[in-house]
Amino acid sequence: MRLQKEVIWLLLIGLLILTIVIGLEWMKADQRKKPKSLVMTFIDDAKTSRAFTWYTDNSNVSSVLQIVKGSELKFDKELVTTITGITSTIASSQQVQGVHKAKVSNLEPGTTYSYRVGSGGDKDWSKPAIFTTEARSLNEFTFINVTDSQGITEEDFILWGKTLNKAFEIFPTAQFIIHNGDMTEESDDDKAWDHFFSEAEPWVSQVPLMPVTGNHDEVDGVADHFTSHFNLPNNGAENSIEGTSYSFDYGSAHFVILNTESNIKEQTTWLEEDLAATELPWKIVAMHRGAYGGNMNKKVGDWVSIFDQYKVDLVLQGHNHEYSRSYPLRDGEIVGDGDNMINDHEGTVYVVTNTAGQKFNEQKGNQFYHQVHFQNEKQMFAGVQIKGDSLTFQAYDKDGEKLDEFVIHH
Ligand SMILES: [Fe+2]
Repeated sequence: MRLQKEVIWLLLIGLLILTIVIGLEWMKADQRKKPKSLVMTFIDDAKTSRAFTWYTDNSNVSSVLQIVKGSELKFDKELVTTITGITSTIASSQQVQGVHKAKVSNLEPGTTYSYRVGSGGDKDWSKPAIFTTEARSLNEFTFINVTDSQGITEEDFILWGKTLNKAFEIFPTAQFIIHNGDMTEESDDDKAWDHFFSEAEPWVSQVPLMPVTGNHDEVDGVADHFTSHFNLPNNGAENSIEGTSYSFDYGSAHFVILNTESNIKEQTTWLEEDLAATELPWKIVAMHRGAYGGNMNKKVGDWVSIFDQYKVDLVLQGHNHEYSRSYPLRDGEIVGDGDNMINDHEGTVYVVTNTAGQKFNEQKGNQFYHQVHFQNEKQMFAGVQIKGDSLTFQAYDKDGEKLDEFVIHH
């Protein structure tokens, strides 16, 4: 009798352990379908469309986007639009992950939407988020510029997250972010990308992050981890890796994103055509290695001639991990009177906003073109406000101290 009781107890305990193990496996499997690394980008007209990318650990699930007008974060069946995106996979030495890309078009300008992404199951939705499309007519907007988040560990990317938090505290109405490249130290390090996005997600699920390709994002002509993470305009130079050169418009500004890592020559042809085709008054270029940064990347000399020809206002750069701002330049020479006001398209200003991550370089020697040049060993960000015929550039450190400011006036 006693023996029988013991057997029953043992069986019950065994059953309990089995139930817990199955439950945990079930939860793990569920977790593997959960979206991560969610990021919004511009892809077509910023007034009427948005693009989204997210990853899952399970590489074999659908890409579903639900969107509804309003900021209520409620997804009633009658009101919601459901869009199925495209699933592909990306392999690293560590694992194979699902890459999910979706796009929504025909949105109304100046309108707020709630959305969520998922794998199709009821339990697989992302945290819902909101965004607002570009207004039909826009006299004023701000964007944030950061560069070289370039971390390895979670601690590294916590610094990047804090930089972004401060940037949005100082510029709460910023409409998008331009990241000037070197997102992570090693492009095929999945953990680093996980940290990069988990720190940025509160922001980049609500405002587009427009990335530039750095030398840590494209290595030996391969940028597939970088391009898998972003759903970008496919309007770049012929023979460039798709998503590494592109342009987009926002308000009164035309933005050109160039890839300093490959295909320089064909980008030169494309750059000229692209700038010739815009009628917008403000022209801003972003690229990783600087034409006039801590040092000069001479390989992009032909691009600089085109910046001069089309009177590009501002060139955002990265790579040097120090702060650098040039005098306004034209034909390789300083123009203007050296104050902090640039008038009437007299020259192009080139900046490097230090780094948003953990790595600082020793300050390079001053060059003739440096108007402001320092290494403060603090993460930095810039807010760029365009209001009518004025552009105001303000650079801050991660503690919220303003360290540089200039105005370009048309
Ligand atoms: Fe870098």
